[in-house]
Amino acid sequence: MLTFSEAISLLQKNQIVGLPTETVYGLAGRADSVEAIEKIYAIKQRPMTNPLIIHYATKEMALQEGIFCHLGKELVSKIWPGPLTVIVQKSLHSKIVSKAHCNLSSVAIRVPNHPVMHDVLQKVGGIAAPSANLSGNLSPTTAEHVNRAFLGKIPVLDAGACSIGLESTIIDLRQHPFVIVRPGYWTLEKLSERFPNIIFEENNSVDIITPGSSFQHYAPKKRLFLNVLAPFPSEMGVIGFGKIHINENSKCFVQLSEEANLEEAARRIFSALHELDLSSQCSCIGVTPIPGFGIGKAINDRLMRAALQKN
Ligand code: TXA
Ligand code: MG
Repeated sequence: MLTFSEAISLLQKNQIVGLPTETVYGLAGRADSVEAIEKIYAIKQRPMTNPLIIHYATKEMALQEGIFCHLGKELVSKIWPGPLTVIVQKSLHSKIVSKAHCNLSSVAIRVPNHPVMHDVLQKVGGIAAPSANLSGNLSPTTAEHVNRAFLGKIPVLDAGACSIGLESTIIDLRQHPFVIVRPGYWTLEKLSERFPNIIFEENNSVDIITPGSSFQHYAPKKRLFLNVLAPFPSEMGVIGFGKIHINENSKCFVQLSEEANLEEAARRIFSALHELDLSSQCSCIGVTPIPGFGIGKAINDRLMRAALQKN
């Protein structure tokens, strides 16, 4: 098992490690190293057109890296550390190598709320970290998921299961109203209630603002069906939300939240998909309806992308 000091030493030598955050595990490398960034893209098999998120230990450090308007500063000052990534214009003196953000003039920045990740960031400085899965596959919420994705070849700093379980909300701060380009824990409702002086919009346009959001993504290997209702086919592994009546033929069932708690469901959804995808007891996966409000919107966003057919 990788220790904290081993992780630091590997990162300082431009190596790649798996690191925990409160959202999902990240495939981490130094943001100021072309060598490390190239390794991340190669290991993840990520298209070189899909930029990475850069993580910092403190909001003061993060604010140095981009150009923030006063409302943007107000927003991040109150939310960071936390599951929010912002897209801003990159500042002129930033140390982030341009390969990390595909030579775009913008950069995605976040200050995660995880004690282990925080300590690593304090020692190493800015770290680029996409989710620690092969491009297009399910995101990892445990060290075991990361080990499985990379066949044990990437050392992982294990800090248990992620407490949020879905990737950070991404907001583009380059113009006001701010645009939510990836839903997550910070929902439109939560943001509007907490910041009545700021206007947020969801991204309903077909324009590609966040390249990674436009793809079929987060996909299990088995076929995934959404909004399934009992009686379920016998070959279907079922992921349930709330009280579900399971018929006798159903061989595998994973409960997201019997009390129909959306945050609990968010925490478990990727694990549930990983589990049924591996199970020899079912040949496809079905998910019962999950309400589309609050973080339910983010869960459904991930599920919809996961259910798109690979061509
Ligand atoms: O919770 C998270 O955000 C996790 C943890 C590890 O921090 N990271 C994560 O990274 O989800 P990734 O690479 O799986 O997703 C990053 C998304 C991609 O859709 C990418 O296109 C978008 O952020 N992105 C990054 N930089 C961008 C930029 N300059 N402009 C637009 N979109 C950007
Ligand atoms: Mg990802």
